[in-house]
Amino acid sequence: MRLGRETLAFPGFDGGAEWGGQAADLKTGILYLNANDVAWTGGLVENHKVASLGEGLYLDNCATCHGGDRKGSPPAFPSLVDSKLTEAEMADVLWSGRGRMPTFRGLLAGDLKALLAFVRGSTDKTELAAPASDDRPSYRFTGYRKFLDPDGYPAVAPPWGTLSAIDLNNGTYLWRIPLGEYPALKYPGWADKSTGSENYGGPILTAGGVLFIGATLYDKKIRAFDPRNGKLLWDAQLPYAGNATPITYMAGGRQYVLIQADNARDRKAEQGAAYVAFALPSR
Ligand code: HEC
Repeated sequence: MRLGRETLAFPGFDGGAEWGGQAADLKTGILYLNANDVAWTGGLVENHKVASLGEGLYLDNCATCHGGDRKGSPPAFPSLVDSKLTEAEMADVLWSGRGRMPTFRGLLAGDLKALLAFVRGSTDKTELAAPASDDRPSYRFTGYRKFLDPDGYPAVAPPWGTLSAIDLNNGTYLWRIPLGEYPALKYPGWADKSTGSENYGGPILTAGGVLFIGATLYDKKIRAFDPRNGKLLWDAQLPYAGNATPITYMAGGRQYVLIQADNARDRKAEQGAAYVAFALPSR
């Protein structure tokens, strides 16, 4: 990383492997792992002298995610310039946090007012008058940005998301397949081909030897694979993206697989959340 220059990070800040975890077969020593293969950028710059308390607070607390220019990196980190929220609603977001955004309950009332004045691009002289503290760090991170092409797709060669089986006994890949699709890139003649897509949430392996995984952001599917060869056995459409690790349980003599689904990471899609359970075929 060089001061004042953006650096390409690949795999990006969201993996490689993600927080969803992996599934392991303790008998065979095989690890099943889903991963993102999307590049991101970020950089280090000198913290310039700021004009107001609000600007200083913004750069120190918010710019890593929402960018120095407040334009964010949509859809993952929303632009604050385009936000339709009122000042009171923004204060609410800072109090409660939202999605991946942490809470900022420690802000003094006066600081909060100065911060929101800056965030909202206020031109009110009295609101912007509070002087900035001299006690700011010398450098700051410029923010997490996905490295995308002009159409909004990852600007690296696909697959952009994968599912792999790795033999931990010797460190070799048993199989590796693209995981997930962008519906708009799906061509009828390419039924067996896929670009893969970003995926969040891990796989589970049932005792009966079936690998279940949701995780894919844009096609919003849950899939079952044969762990021996990565062959797709079954898939189903979820109402929202299954960005979670499924669970399996028994009830009334039937086995179920349940996943939590929501569209918080795909903000262009309809928002909502659901738990979806599937009964496995009874023998
Ligand atoms: C770790 C990254 C991160 C940091 C730091 C962060 N935010 Fe956010 N912020 C987000 C994300 C992600 C969302 C979208 C959350 C969602 O809707 O799921 C968001 C949403 C918001 C929204 C709602 C925008 C809208 O129109 O819905 C506001 C306002 C906001 N942030 C302000 C701030 C301010 C002010 C700060 C600094 C005090 C800050 N954020 C710091 C990640 C961050």
